[in-house]
Parts: sequence; C-alpha cells; structure tokens
Amino acid sequence: MLNSGCILLSDNSVVMKKILSISGFLFLSGLSFAQTLTVKVSSPKAPVQPTMWGVFFEDINFSADGGLYAELVKNRSFEFIQPMMGWKEVTKEGSVLIVNRAEKQANPRYAHITVNGKYGLFNEGFRGMGLEKDAQYNFSVWARATAGNVAINAVLVNEKGEDIGHAAVAITGNEWKKYTVALTAGQRVAKGGLQVLFSGSGVLDADMISLFPVNTWKQRPGGMRADLVQLLADLHPGFVRFPGGCIVEGRDLVNRYQWKKTVGKVEDRTLIENRWNTEFSHRAPGDYFQSYGLGFFEYFQLSEDIGAEPLPILNCGMACQYNTGEIAADEDVNTYIQDALDLIEFANGTTDTRWGKLRAEMGHPAPFNLKMMGVGNEQWDSQYIARYKQFEEVLKTKHPEIKLVSGSGPLPSGDRFDYSWAQLKHSRADLVDEHYYMSPDWFLKNARRYDNYDRNAPKIFAGEYAAHIKDKEKDGPETRNTWGSALAEAAFMTGLERNADVVHMASYAPLLAHVDAWQWRPDLIWFDNLRSVGTPNYYVQKLFANFRGAQIVPVLSNGKTLAGEDSVYASATIDPASHKVLLKIVNVGGPRSYKIAFEGAALRGPIVQHRLTAKDKGDFNTLDNPDVVKPIEGTLSGGKNLVNLYLAPNSLNVFEISYK
Ligand code: AHR
Repeated sequence: MLNSGCILLSDNSVVMKKILSISGFLFLSGLSFAQTLTVKVSSPKAPVQPTMWGVFFEDINFSADGGLYAELVKNRSFEFIQPMMGWKEVTKEGSVLIVNRAEKQANPRYAHITVNGKYGLFNEGFRGMGLEKDAQYNFSVWARATAGNVAINAVLVNEKGEDIGHAAVAITGNEWKKYTVALTAGQRVAKGGLQVLFSGSGVLDADMISLFPVNTWKQRPGGMRADLVQLLADLHPGFVRFPGGCIVEGRDLVNRYQWKKTVGKVEDRTLIENRWNTEFSHRAPGDYFQSYGLGFFEYFQLSEDIGAEPLPILNCGMACQYNTGEIAADEDVNTYIQDALDLIEFANGTTDTRWGKLRAEMGHPAPFNLKMMGVGNEQWDSQYIARYKQFEEVLKTKHPEIKLVSGSGPLPSGDRFDYSWAQLKHSRADLVDEHYYMSPDWFLKNARRYDNYDRNAPKIFAGEYAAHIKDKEKDGPETRNTWGSALAEAAFMTGLERNADVVHMASYAPLLAHVDAWQWRPDLIWFDNLRSVGTPNYYVQKLFANFRGAQIVPVLSNGKTLAGEDSVYASATIDPASHKVLLKIVNVGGPRSYKIAFEGAALRGPIVQHRLTAKDKGDFNTLDNPDVVKPIEGTLSGGKNLVNLYLAPNSLNVFEISYK
C-alpha cells in the first residue's frame, strides 16, 4: 500500500519536501518546483481502439513446443530430422526401429519395438520435464500389437531417474488405437522425465507418445500451460498476433508457416523444423521443431478465451529476405491468396463450408469472428509491394469486412521503410505494421514519432517493439529485460497513446522465452518448466493495457504536450462509462512533483496510483526473484479539480481518477 502526502514548506518555495511512504519505507527527497499539468477532461480528441494494446506471439525461444503448448514429450512422433532425438533406450532386452509409412504423409514415422523381457525408452522432455507434486498427468500413445504380448508401463521419473509415479497400459489388438492412462507425480521435479517401459515378449508399434498435465488452461486435454495463459489473460490484450514474426516467412518457402498444416487432428499435423533452430549460430538449439500441436485453431481459441481479437499474419509468397529471399513465382501467388481466403472461411465460415466444417469438427461451430489479417511480415522492396497489392485486390473484393495489415520492413526508418510507406500510403491497407528493436535512447527520442504522421493515411500497427540495451561485456549481442528498457518503452508508449487516432494497435515482441532454450532476448515473459515471471516490460504493458480508457484527452504543460521536456512524458485517456481519467506519467529523471489541474470535470473520491519503479535502471526480475520490479498501488486525495502528485525518479505512474 502506498500513502502519499505533501508537506509544503512554504507556499512559494522552489523546493518542496515530501514524505512518501511506500510499503513501509520512507523517502525524503528534495523536489523540483511543482509545475502545473492540465488534463482537459472535457476535450476528448479521438477514441482509443479496443485493440490498442495487444500481444505478439511467435514460436521463438521455445514459446510453443516446450512452452505454451503443455506437451511434455519432445519428439513424440519421431518426426525430428534425427528420429530418436530426445529419446534414449533405458533397458535393452529388445530394440527399436523407425519405420516410415508412405500412406500417412503428415506423420509418416513410428517406432517398431521388439521386446524380449524388459525394454524401455526414456524421453528427456524440453530441457527436462516439470512435474508438480500430486498433480495428475495424462500419458497417451497410439499403438498396435503385431505379435506376442507386450505391456506398457509409463513411469514419471525425477532427476535421479527414480520412479515418482507410474501406470500400466495394456495394448490389445493389431489395429492402431489411442491408449490413455492417468499418472500422479509424487514429487515436485523441475527436470524430470518419462520412461516408457515395455515388458513381455512380442512386437508392437508406437507413435504419438505423449504426456500432458491435466491442469492445463481451462483443463483442456492436450491444452496450454495454465500459468502462461493466465499471464497473457492478465494483460487484457486487445489482440493476439500470431504465428509471428519471421516464422511466417520461413528460411525458405518450403519451411514457411502454412496454417492448413496446423489444423485438424494433432496426429495428422505435419511437423517442420523451426527456423530458429539454426538461425543464430551462438544460440542454435538443434532440437527446435514445430509439432503444430499449437496451431491456428488453438490460436483463435486462445484469442477468444482472453477476450482478444485474433490477428493472423500470413505468408505473402516470400521467404525471409535475410535468408534465402525466395519469392513465389507469379503464377503461384494465387495459392497463397487462396490460403488467406480459406482462412477467412475457417474462422468465419458457416459449418457447411469446407473449412467452417473443419472448425466445427474441432469443437468450435460458432465463428471466431475474424476481423483482420496481416499480409507478410518484415518484407521489403517492390516484390513485396507487388504481392501485397495482389492480396489486396482479391481480399478487398471478396472480403471488404476484413481489415488488412501490410508490412513496412524490418526497420523503423531508412530507404526500405520510406519506399514501403510511399507505396502503401495510397493503398487500401487499413494498417501498416512498423517494427522497432532500438536502443532505450531511441525510444525516448521518438515519443513524438507519430505527432506529425498523416492522419489520412493507413493507421499504425506498432507490431513489434522492444528497447534493446547492448551490454557486450555480459551478454554479447543479447540484451536483458531491465527496468531501464521498460521505462524507455513506457515513455514511448505515452506517445503511442497520445496519438491513438493514428496508432490503432501495438505489441511488444517477442512474448515468451524459456530460460534454458531461448534464441532472442529481451522477451516479455520468461519461464522454465514449472514457473513463469513477468518482466518489468510486462508490467509496463499491463499498466497501459489495463488502464487503456476509451478516448484520448490532452495533458498540457504551458499549453504543450509533454514528451521528454524536463524528462517527463505524459498521456491521458478517459473512460466515460466508469467516469475515470487514466493519467500516465513517465519520469525518466529525478524526483518531481506536479500540480494536476482537471479542466471540465470535478474530481470525486480518492485517486488510485499505480507506480512502477526500481532502485536501479539495471534491475530485472528472475524466476527466483520475480518481484524486483512490480507495480505497487496506493491512494491519494485531491481537491475539487486540483491534485498534487509526486513522481519518484525513473518511474511510470498511472493514476485512476474518478470524476463527475
Ligand atoms: O521478434 C523476433 C523477430 O524479430 C521476429 O520474428 C521478426 O519479425 C523480427 O525481426
């Protein structure tokens, strides 16, 4: 709880002493003179779109397999390039042979197991398996017994290989069937594993060997990690962008993201190598594949679950221009456009259409109400514009109700960016996706980036951004999620909010990262096999998204907006439904105090202050110390239309102010 009170030493004093008690700590600071900020409550300028603050999901850093997708078995269908990757034999009275069947092209391989006594396979999981004490797990396997009599015992093991829970499965008949059994873990284990022990004498075939916690998000069998989805839900994001990112493009077109291969029964989805498996030589995991257990149906469902609009991004007929740069032949682009049309049918079509029927069979007869779609990711140059326009021509004719998001390349300025914008400005793109992975300084200096954007051009989707602090000493090219990076983003985000008439959507990127298997950082949320933690950047996103408001209103100092003057950045919105002003002030300097005057409204009741700050700009949260940088909440009281505010050094402050 935060209690704030001001003691004015003298009415006109230049220095005001303030005693602020936060969570029992007392601060006594010399403050600069209290300027007045005016919030023009009765002069709303433009609506803030419900989609304003969203999330960007990409399968990078083991975000899907080994992350959000709660499957614990790695390489469950033996389809990795090395079919036994993730598996090893534990007892050897038998053998395993990998068989490839032509008739099942999506998932051709299975394990042909011969047993003469006791034979076992151990699966190491994704950097181990996280198992919770007393939690239930569903083991399943597709199997057929082809000769003799072989039983399966599924065993959860701890780091020492000790049995912490097991259950038997009897395989009957020589037809492929799915067998399922529940297990309970007797210990909490961060890096456990699964043994599949075969006993008897005979031969059996096994495929899709799987282990899921029962406690998934919404308890869905084969579902998502509940803790990670909860962190996303707590953001109240306006949209979910999926499935990326560069993963949409693929290193080459064969390995591009093809949504049709990610829907239908999980055992019929075609696994591919994840492009991040080898993208960075210093961070090449070697065992990073996409099982597509988390596919487009699941992304739509996730969006719906957390009240966000789905924003799928589709390949436009171009592979990553940093890699092969392959482009689809002109005569093939229609195939890509057809994928987009079919996706609209999958999401919104009636259940008597081909793709709408599949959605219903997958358990969602009602439409997903898709309203927008992205064409390409970070593409540039005339090849992109040509392809984008082909998509636009067809989609705007057949589906004018779907908003189109085009790309503007990987960088926030420069020749490629300018070229894209010059071309897109007069297109029918509804939104243009801009990306900025830049220094904190860039974010601070660009808080006015959108002040002078053309109000009649396509709107802005700030689709990927994060402040990157280069710390070559410690991290090489990577960076960390420090408070300093989050603070700079917060300052910049006041500029996005002030320009909500132009900026309709924004998402930090990337979203998720496994602490033992990441390729790219910083990232919004970090996790291991059992735990997850929000970064300071996460809490910045949360504060903006949770206190979005419905209309922007001016916040003025001497008649001007504040975007870095005196190291302070400010924006405000109102929510007429709840009669609240939502004022955000980011202070990147020393302690400050302000008098806030509210024009056109009388204040009512106490003011709630949410403050995010840290002792040091280098502070960050970890799984072991998750609360180093976290918002604290307190209340203040104000006058009828005037309130004194204290801003701690290097802080983001969100004030919820009720008005009449
Ligand atoms: O977010 C990580 C990557 O950054 C995305 O895949 C890509 O779009 C951008 O270059």
